[in-house]
Amino acid sequence: MSDATILAGVLGLSSAIQLAREGHTVTVIARDLPGDFDIEYASPWAGSHFRPISANNASERFEQELMHETYDELKVTAERHPDSSVRFVRAVEYFDSPSPAYSDETLVKQNGYADWPDFRILDPSELPAGHDAIQLGVTYTGWVLNSPVYLAWLHRQAQGLGVRFIRARLAALEEAVFIHRESEGNHPRANIRAVINASGRGFQDPDSFPSRGQFILVSNPCSETISHHWADGSTTVIIPRPLGGGTVIGGTKEPNNWSHSISNAATETILTRAAKLCEQLVSGASNQDASGFDIKQVYIGRRPMRKGGLRLEEQTLEFQDTAEEDGLKTVSRSIPVVHCYGAGASGFKISWELGGGETSGASRGDDIV
Ligand SMILES: Cc1cc2nc3c(=O)[nH]c(=O)nc-3n(C[C@H](O)[C@H](O)[C@H](O)COP(=O)(O)OP(=O)(O)OC[C@H]3O[C@@H](n4cnc5c(N)ncnc54)[C@H](O)[C@@H]3O)c2cc1C
Ligand SMILES: *[C@@H]1O[C@H](CO)[C@@H](O)[C@H](O)[C@H]1NC(C)=O
Ligand SMILES: *[C@@H]1O[C@H](CO)[C@@H](O)[C@H](O)[C@H]1NC(C)=O
Ligand SMILES: *[C@@H]1O[C@H](CO)[C@@H](O)[C@H](O)[C@H]1NC(C)=O
Repeated sequence: MSDATILAGVLGLSSAIQLAREGHTVTVIARDLPGDFDIEYASPWAGSHFRPISANNASERFEQELMHETYDELKVTAERHPDSSVRFVRAVEYFDSPSPAYSDETLVKQNGYADWPDFRILDPSELPAGHDAIQLGVTYTGWVLNSPVYLAWLHRQAQGLGVRFIRARLAALEEAVFIHRESEGNHPRANIRAVINASGRGFQDPDSFPSRGQFILVSNPCSETISHHWADGSTTVIIPRPLGGGTVIGGTKEPNNWSHSISNAATETILTRAAKLCEQLVSGASNQDASGFDIKQVYIGRRPMRKGGLRLEEQTLEFQDTAEEDGLKTVSRSIPVVHCYGAGASGFKISWELGGGETSGASRGDDIV
């Protein structure tokens, strides 16, 4: 048995559950916990839906593998735990100027983009009316989830497995060692054996940066999840939020923009674009404004980006401790640390990154003993 200390975004919670299922004693230490909403806490703001990628190099193939593991895990979650909010729905994706990696039928089989249930290229007659710019449409079965509900569900799952939660803001990751020890009454055998650093963008890695996303939550329904990649490089997404959460519509993707302010122009553009992609959104609802939408919230989230992508690697965490014998001498100690941050726009898609959970009993991930 070993103790691990981690943080409470979707990556930290999923790792905590994974480790607890393997029999480890796990403590989560985090500034934000499920139920909180803060611009610096990315997870509750996510859409959140599945969208595949084409994998053209080793790191993309690795990301794609994580997406498959997560897809399989969420399949089991959707079947066994409807209260998790995970649902599998028809997904549709449109491209105005697709690169061959997404449009060439031979390539998409080789690069894995087509390798998802019910994937097929849409017939031109199936493309939405009035969208002459769309060159390609595809469909597949994807998942959607209601992020705050799903995080609360992960929180309950973790608590049910005996995971302990401590709310604390860490000035450095090393501080986790001491907060954990103090929480155990400074018992000399209460040392943690490994740390998982799932801190999003929390400790100012110089390679980390935010990507601002302005999204809109409406009560209007859409029964499928739709993504449209426009020629101008922007993407419109429509994501139903199960269990009565309405629909999330997005959004902007603005690297290094730290603004907290809502852009009304962006809201209008995004909603106008969405209404044309899913007519169901505006066809029947009552209590709407002039645009046909019943807006519940317009918000800004920050995707935790990192140059070079997700950092998933094991290292050693060195820290300075006080010798037990005289309470004066400083001693250097070290424990393993597993970094798991910088998931960017894909945190939910790869959230079972430490290996399968309910789907595979055996540990495939990093040995933290
Ligand atoms: C608008 C929007 C839409 C998105 N849509 C999707 C989508 O459709 N699909 C998808 O897969 N992903 C989506 N994402 C991306 C996804 O939200 C992120 O990749 C994911 O939430 C990252 O999770 P995380 O656990 O790494 O970080 P976070 O959720 O930010 O969690 C970090 C944790 O570390 C803690 N922490 C940080 N610093 C400290 C500190 N100093 N002391 C103590 N604790 C600390 C925090 O309190 C928190 O508990 C979207 C993101 C946004 C903003
Ligand atoms: C893989 O390709 C992507 C997209 O072109 C690129 O951003 C990334 O840096 C590449 N990664 C490696 C390791 O070459
Ligand atoms: C933990 O992750 C952060 C990114 O949030 C990074 O800056 C930091 O270097 C990592 N901690 C250690 C001790 O390596
Ligand atoms: C950041 O976003 C805000 C709000 O939309 C906008 O006013 C501002 O011009 C943007 N800044 C940059 C540098 O793009």
